[in-house]
Amino acid sequence: MKTNIWTVDNNVDKSDSYPQVKNAAVLLQKNEVVAFPTETVYGLGANAKSDEAVKKVFLAKGRPSDNPLIVHIASKEQLCEIVAGVPEMAKTLMNKFWPGPLTIILEKRQGVLSEIVTAGLNTVGVRMPDHPVALSLIAECGLPIAAPSANTSGKPSPTSAKHVESDLAGKIAGIVDGGPTGVGVESTVIDCTAAIPVILRPGGITKEELEETIGTVILDSSLKDATAAPKAPGMKYTHYAPKAPLELVKGDVEFLQNIADRKQSEGLKVGIIAAAEHIEYYRADYILSPGKLADLRTVAQGLYDTLRKFDELDADIILSEVFPEQGIGQAVMNRLYKAAGHHVISQNDK
Ligand code: TXA
Ligand code: MG
Repeated sequence: MKTNIWTVDNNVDKSDSYPQVKNAAVLLQKNEVVAFPTETVYGLGANAKSDEAVKKVFLAKGRPSDNPLIVHIASKEQLCEIVAGVPEMAKTLMNKFWPGPLTIILEKRQGVLSEIVTAGLNTVGVRMPDHPVALSLIAECGLPIAAPSANTSGKPSPTSAKHVESDLAGKIAGIVDGGPTGVGVESTVIDCTAAIPVILRPGGITKEELEETIGTVILDSSLKDATAAPKAPGMKYTHYAPKAPLELVKGDVEFLQNIADRKQSEGLKVGIIAAAEHIEYYRADYILSPGKLADLRTVAQGLYDTLRKFDELDADIILSEVFPEQGIGQAVMNRLYKAAGHHVISQNDK
């Protein structure tokens, strides 16, 4: 299949329409799948009402069918069409964080969406992305758009159109290239079907921000204990893993450097992932930094690109620093733990 690529300038006046987006919207209406930028990562969009369209998403990504998709909307009217009701707490969250990187799980309205989108569940995850191109595309086609991250299942989510192209070119009808995404990690997923809301996946909106708005929120038990079964089906799968084995190192710079030296003396090519502030202190075959410790948002922005870059290098092992699990750092560390298959070497264990 030929994959159309349309380049869009994000910076044009939002009241202007994007001609390239019209072409993409027509393909979505014809039940084809199209990748588009959001403020978090690129999404792979399909008409959420069509089994035919949604099946193509699962096929292109190689995604397990028990993993439901987030439905993207551009207006509150679209929300009413797809959910059975909106609890007060969810309304408060929407008023505060939409458009933005927050996916809210609600009871779905029966018989509107393809059953494949929700993997047979009675709930649906909904979000209004904070990106002019995404909003214009959804409004233009006039459909709720089911969209997982636009990567091959298991790989890091795409934060640029090039990432999407390298995973999905030839498998999808088009890619709208709106430049690099901003947040860099996916939306926070919060379940608002229970009395006390539960974070199923940490992401672009932090636990601290949520609690400032609605009071106590709970972290799904699987986020605290890697052996507990997660409530978001997608959270049980290995994810984000680069080809070379990745180990997280909890300790100081010297501790990590000693491990790197030992691995090199065993004849291995060693890669290091470190905060920008620490790069100059390390020696290894490859040293990459996703961003600055002083601003964890930059680490979130650069994380997936860093993991993907290692797939172009011939490192035999990657050692990564850990980052503070505060604010957006909670999402960063959730992804790094998964990428490392929860392998951690800790200085305190020695
Ligand atoms: O930022 C994002 O959320 C991106 C952009 C494209 O919007 N999308 C994204 O989608 O990350 P995906 O499919 O890669 O991740 C969706 C996550 C999965 O872990 C899935 O299991 C969970 O949300 N999820 C979706 N619907 C759910 C539901 N009804 N109940 C529980 N978890 C759900
Ligand atoms: Mg994903």
